[in-house]
Amino acid sequence: MGDNAPIGIYDSGLGGLTVVREVLSLLPGEDIIYFGDTARTPYGSRPPAEILGFMQEILAFFAGQKVKMAITACNTMTALGLEQAKTEFPFLLIGVDNGVPAALAASRKQRIGVIATEATINSGNHARAIKAAAPAARVFAQPCPSFVSLIEQEKLSGPEIETAAREYLMPLAASGVDALILGCTHYPFISPLIRELMGPAVVLIDPARETAAAARTQLAHTDKLATRARGQVRLCFSADLPRAKRAAACVIDFPRARSQAPSFALVNLQAYYSEV
Ligand code: DGL
Repeated sequence: MGDNAPIGIYDSGLGGLTVVREVLSLLPGEDIIYFGDTARTPYGSRPPAEILGFMQEILAFFAGQKVKMAITACNTMTALGLEQAKTEFPFLLIGVDNGVPAALAASRKQRIGVIATEATINSGNHARAIKAAAPAARVFAQPCPSFVSLIEQEKLSGPEIETAAREYLMPLAASGVDALILGCTHYPFISPLIRELMGPAVVLIDPARETAAAARTQLAHTDKLATRARGQVRLCFSADLPRAKRAAACVIDFPRARSQAPSFALVNLQAYYSEV
């Protein structure tokens, strides 16, 4: 049987591309439509009601694209809106894996760090999941409010991101964590910097791989895996395609992932859909 309809993957901006990378490698036959809201990023310090409104608009766009599944490649929208949205749209909907099983498996000291946006940290989701799985574990949660906007500005190195990273990460390093969950899909863009500041003894957990694996499992269970060998990739953004193209080239090796180059499109969720 199978289902050759596309999979939608979305984020507030460029961060979800780190999830696209893993989906491309685990599900080579799938057509993928990515949407990154580069016009309105970052989401993580906005009021929850506004973030939920943006999420509804993106999911309505995917409904129009007749996707069979949407992957919420954003921890902030996963934390705030996933459970409710699952009941509202006619396709499978999954969120970012919380990284907790991998972190607990990697941590010998059961001291787990979590870095994420303010909205994700305030939701308490990671801390609850860690405590539920391992009541004796210690959780050190650190919001990193300026990371997303710096990464969106392509400041992956240099004094601004280094100063911010030191401010957020030095207390975590001092607290003796030995596993650190990257609880925001933008953060793998700066994992070399995070690794340098946290030191070699701390295992960084990027849940993108587990997220792609969960998508594959759900598609397999519902008999919706694509039947073709190689799918197509369309990367849509609400603003600034040149920046989006540079970011995509920075995280995804397209010639290796797919023989065909991705197509890019500028999408205004309310008004128009134009291909570039
Ligand atoms: N990549 C999003 C996340 O995982 C960032 C949200 C934002 O725009 O602040 O939470």
